[in-house]
Amino acid sequence: ELGEFEHYMLKEIFEQPQSLENAMRGRLSLDNATAVFGGLNLSPQELRSVDRILLTACGTSWHAAMVGEYMIEEMARIPVEVEYASELRYRNPPVPQRTLVFGITQSGETADTLAALREMKRKGHPTLAICNVVGSSIAQEADGGIYLHAGPEVGVASTKAFTSQLAIMAMLGLYFGRLNHLSFDQGYRMIQALQALPDAVRQALNTREQAKKVAEKYQAVNNFLYLGRYFNFPVALEGALKLKEISYIHAEGYPAAELKHGPIALVDENTPSVFIMPQGVVYDKVMSNLQEIKARGGPVIAIANEDDHEIEKYADDVIRIPKVEEFLQPIVSVIPLQFIAYHIALLRGCDVDKPRNLAKSVTVE
Ligand code: M6R
Repeated sequence: ELGEFEHYMLKEIFEQPQSLENAMRGRLSLDNATAVFGGLNLSPQELRSVDRILLTACGTSWHAAMVGEYMIEEMARIPVEVEYASELRYRNPPVPQRTLVFGITQSGETADTLAALREMKRKGHPTLAICNVVGSSIAQEADGGIYLHAGPEVGVASTKAFTSQLAIMAMLGLYFGRLNHLSFDQGYRMIQALQALPDAVRQALNTREQAKKVAEKYQAVNNFLYLGRYFNFPVALEGALKLKEISYIHAEGYPAAELKHGPIALVDENTPSVFIMPQGVVYDKVMSNLQEIKARGGPVIAIANEDDHEIEKYADDVIRIPKVEEFLQPIVSVIPLQFIAYHIALLRGCDVDKPRNLAKSVTVE
């Protein structure tokens, strides 16, 4: 099954152009400039009257929810709340009427996500699953949902499920946007951007060699920082989680501007910082955060666009990713972070597909 690949994680990283195509297949309508979902089991009237969305998940799926919050709020102007499922199930927050609840889960078996969804369902909220494994417990218990169609994900570190979850989030933003204020023209351009995505990801797979060089250089450090802002803040969290879980190096993700509120104290010559900074509205701000780190002697690795010629003046290493619409950047910018984690883990002799203390699905509390 592994074919030419040494590990499932690597195979699954390389499957992403295809798994993204599968996530979008039949779900984009240029005729109506919107997304189409077959299994929501709610009438257009019910969907139109949703005035709040609650996303709940764990781990990497929770990071996808974080990006989803930014996407849906931006595109559909519907307030979105993101809750760790393990917190939501006991926290008892006030959830207003007409809140639509989504559980996001690759496996569909995560105990906390299942319990959180059950609790929301018990309170009378419509609950939907965004799930990869067909017929899983959560897929069955939810009122309806959206499958990722990513194919089996075997590596414990989630890769292709994450990018597919992000594609679904973007399509939900488009869908709810088009039910509300988004124009045909805006919807149409978003679809074109989504359709161009698999090719951009295919190009981003070429970052493997650059990521490997970075891995060789920093394989022996004990700490890493991952920094990004706006759509790339949750990507920083995800990059840090990938590294932690498979290489056992301590890593933290932060919104880049939070640095000066504490984490900058960690910076020294043995603590590299990975800046996720494709061009966009916050680029200059992230650049000044980067320079703060450089000024304190911290090594800097930048994930930047191909045509960014400013960055090489400041970063020690630059990994180049193709340009895409800003709301889709996370789907491309996470690829080199997956490679960095993979290669560092490999160099440190770790079991990439089955890291210690972890299981693919966490079916206990
Ligand atoms: O199957 P789920 O998406 O519900 O799993 C949630 C987390 O356990 C999972 O994403 C975990 O954080 C991964 N090992 C991350 O790579």
